Amino acid sequence: MLTSAVLALLLIAPSAAPGPIVVHQGGKRVTRSLTDGAETRSLLDMQAGVTRTVTGVPLDRLVRAPSGQLIVLRFDNGVIVPVQAAHAGEVFIATSWTRADGVVEKTFPPVPRAPEFNLDPRPVTFAHNKAVVSKGNAGGLPAPVGHGFTPWSRTSSLVEARVMSPRAFVDRIAPKKAPAEGATAARTGQDLFVRRCVYCHGVNDVGASFGTDVLVGVPLADRYTVESLQAQVATHKLDDYQAGLMMPPQHDLTRAEARQLHTFFRALKAAPPTR
Ligand code: HEC
Repeated sequence: MLTSAVLALLLIAPSAAPGPIVVHQGGKRVTRSLTDGAETRSLLDMQAGVTRTVTGVPLDRLVRAPSGQLIVLRFDNGVIVPVQAAHAGEVFIATSWTRADGVVEKTFPPVPRAPEFNLDPRPVTFAHNKAVVSKGNAGGLPAPVGHGFTPWSRTSSLVEARVMSPRAFVDRIAPKKAPAEGATAARTGQDLFVRRCVYCHGVNDVGASFGTDVLVGVPLADRYTVESLQAQVATHKLDDYQAGLMMPPQHDLTRAEARQLHTFFRALKAAPPTR
């Protein structure tokens, strides 16, 4: 008979085969293997800061989406990255890599930290695959804001891809109704959120789940003032990282931008998007 300890071990043991990726497209849900038709390439892995010989599949082969659509990737640590279909070839999903001595490794070493996270002691770890990209804006991400933050430095193993229009992507995290006052500021705040925050923060349980949800629990709009929001984002306190928290500071966020984000958060609270 299995003791509960053995059972627990069995449950947490990583599966030997790289897990298939769940793809949602056109109202259908299919699973795609990462090993069928795998190819080998030598690529600069920007996240790890090394060039490796990797085996896996390029995203444009794994998910075929018409140009103009987004392929929204979800990683097992809750980070999401909306990749433009036309740039999907810049993202390679690797399941193994070959060392200089020819030995094939099925696991990827944890990434200790990326330059913009140099206060963050916690590594990114990988279960059975790793997204390899060679530049920070791979996948057609919007130009990095200010100090060059890129969500690719925090992606772990890919679990799901969802094909949708850019419009549908934004609608899922936008207020149902524009506020009577401050509609323009709320809209600018929404654009800022999409460029700077959407990779980690979900809205009403939709989207990313790496950081705190904007609405679930006590909404951020109620817990933060414009000033404390700016302070939280721009100068994330040292004691936060010592407590094991992982939000990278975005030092360049201005007071005006914090106000626009705050207006957006208030608009979301007043008219939450449907889940
Ligand atoms: C790389 C991922 C990441 C990005 C990008 C990110 N955050 Fe965070 N954020 C987190 C994580 C993780 C936490 C929870 C732990 C912490 O406080 O560090 C958090 C916490 C917060 C908190 C505190 C929540 C609370 O419960 O008090 C606020 C406010 C916040 N983020 C706002 C933002 C805003 C606004 C942006 C965009 C300008 C942003 N974050 C971008 C990961 C991120």
